[in-house]
Amino acid sequence: MPEAIAVDYDGLIPNNVGLNADPRLRRALESWHPGCLDWWRERGPEGFQSSLVYLRTAISVEPEGWAKFGYVRMPDYRWGILLAPPVEGRRIPFGEHRGEPAWQEVPGEYRAMLRRLITVQGDTEPASVEQQHALGRTAPSLYDLRNLFQVNVEEARHLWAMVYLLQKYFGRDGREEAEDLLRRRSGDRDSPRLLSAFNEATPDWLAFFMFTFFTDRDGKMQLHALAQSGFDPLSRTCRFMLLEEAHHMFIGQSGVGRIIERTCAAMRAAGIDDPHDIERVRAEGVIDLPTIQRRANLHFSLTLDLFGGEISSNAASAFNAGIKGRYLEDQIDDDHRLVGATYPVLRLKDGHVADERVPALSALNMRLRDDYVADAASAVERWWNRAIARAGFAYKIRLPHVAFNRRIGEFAAIDADPEGNILGADEWQRRRHEFLPSAADDAFVASLMRPVTEPGAFASWIAPPAAGIDNKPGDFEYVKLQG
Ligand SMILES: [Fe+2]
Ligand SMILES: [Fe+2]
Repeated sequence: MPEAIAVDYDGLIPNNVGLNADPRLRRALESWHPGCLDWWRERGPEGFQSSLVYLRTAISVEPEGWAKFGYVRMPDYRWGILLAPPVEGRRIPFGEHRGEPAWQEVPGEYRAMLRRLITVQGDTEPASVEQQHALGRTAPSLYDLRNLFQVNVEEARHLWAMVYLLQKYFGRDGREEAEDLLRRRSGDRDSPRLLSAFNEATPDWLAFFMFTFFTDRDGKMQLHALAQSGFDPLSRTCRFMLLEEAHHMFIGQSGVGRIIERTCAAMRAAGIDDPHDIERVRAEGVIDLPTIQRRANLHFSLTLDLFGGEISSNAASAFNAGIKGRYLEDQIDDDHRLVGATYPVLRLKDGHVADERVPALSALNMRLRDDYVADAASAVERWWNRAIARAGFAYKIRLPHVAFNRRIGEFAAIDADPEGNILGADEWQRRRHEFLPSAADDAFVASLMRPVTEPGAFASWIAPPAAGIDNKPGDFEYVKLQG
């Protein structure tokens, strides 16, 4: 049994990485800290900074009992640097160095590649906080407001986690990258975030739940792939982040699920049998299922772009180097080097979408994307379609084809419908709003966004959760607004 790892909660930065014994690093982090707080005040949640929020804080790195709940003002949240416990004798699980002891220091030849991967991951963390910064003003309940803030403080902690790696292992360029993570802004014309989906707006709560369902799930896949890394500090960091990520996904799954539940209940009560009878459904103050489908189409397709191009030599290099593995690499039964292996990839060939077997090494992005799609599809069934079926409606939310509405990769060149049929440009324009939200859809959703701040009360368009956070009762005051 490895010993429990003590987390030092005394200093400015709670940690289990021995900051006190590394004064140079501690100084670097402490000098980055005020800039981070400035960023949080400027682009973190708008308002509520003096409210008391019932938040979960990581206090240990053991899987059992790693977090505690309590009222916290967000700027006082303890953004710790926490790594999962080391696995004794851990070896590099894949690539050219498979079987060698995992690296505790950055291997010189892979330094640039590692720095880039950590920077890109790090950039997504503050980006999502920025995207969500105005949502607190229109939260449908105190329960949901608390969940939003929980996601926000944890994404900020993930930023800390990546900054730790940059500052500890990458010297001066690492420190510069850490500064740049605070300088870029989601959606900014001159200095945007690095990945396109993280520059999109999150204008309302349906978008927030869709984002945590689809885009945080991409985060989960990326973290899983990095948790396999031969660079052990990165692996341990990502393994700990995954504990927090599970809750973000829960918020998205259950959030959209609760919207669906409420819509179906309102349709039943009003005697509406046809989910496509949009005007009557909307008159009940709930979000019609076709609008939810179009929003899902939008967020799913935006998120697929995060997996990059169909054929990627960068992904092959990162795998060969032992830096970024596959989803659940250690549970796959093969040589973990992919010598001579192939993988089927959907490609655009002579104007058609067709399967092609390509070298597995060059298709690693697509393999991760396929794992993502399977994970998302099963969550759609379990959390969304089951709620619709329970209410007795013959309607299903479906994930669109991977060729639909893409801006990155081969399918960016075509206009495909959600079934994957290629449409002419005119037909696409004419039918676009069958597939994607229209301005009228968005305006309707926006019209529902009114804050509900009474404990235990919920907006008209969303059902209460099945259970409270930390087993709290339904009327629990998750956020004390005046603090
Ligand atoms: Fe994150
Ligand atoms: Fe997340």
